[in-house]
Amino acid sequence: MSLEVRQLTVGPIAENCFILRPEGGGKALVLDPGEEAERILAAVEETGAEVEAILITHCHFDHIGAVAPVAKATGAPVYCPELEVPVLADIMSYTMPGFGPFEGYEADETVAGGETLELAGLSLDVVFTPGHSPGHVTYSVRGEEAIFSGDVLFQGSVGRVDLPGGDGPTLLRSIQGLIEAHSPETTVYPGHMGTTTLGAERATNPFLAQLPS
Ligand SMILES: [Fe+2]
Repeated sequence: MSLEVRQLTVGPIAENCFILRPEGGGKALVLDPGEEAERILAAVEETGAEVEAILITHCHFDHIGAVAPVAKATGAPVYCPELEVPVLADIMSYTMPGFGPFEGYEADETVAGGETLELAGLSLDVVFTPGHSPGHVTYSVRGEEAIFSGDVLFQGSVGRVDLPGGDGPTLLRSIQGLIEAHSPETTVYPGHMGTTTLGAERATNPFLAQLPS
């Protein structure tokens, strides 16, 4: 099986929404639909696949702004980090002025880390990766050396830790955990900017220089 990933960069904060499925599969997953629901739905339709679930890494508004309309249009259940369910439900209370409006959504399923989800023909391990936000999770696709890590790790950078619930040492521990559990060749599909690999970031990302080797 090989993994098919389509990246759509959406909204004014240029957030990466991903559509993933086993190559050519009839079912797909939508991860972090942040904004531009119509565009995301059109991209899904182009694949010809049915959306089996919507996955969320964390509930900053730029990652979840289109959850409600995409869920309503597809009927797919939404998997939300347990600690951030109240944010998804009341999104406008957590949205910076000048953005939105967005519609809140009551999560259908919660994830906290430690689960393995069997969805759309994929097995995804859920890894708890707090630090950027308190409930942040990373989805690791079994057998594919691919992680969808939201705002944990970027090409040459890391997620900001100055927002409510953020913590720098916690974020670095989360990144260290991902590095220890995956091969250096593992592709990182991040919430902003381009894809990278864990090995490339370990070797060159200045924010990771202080990690134990
Ligand atoms: Fe974020």
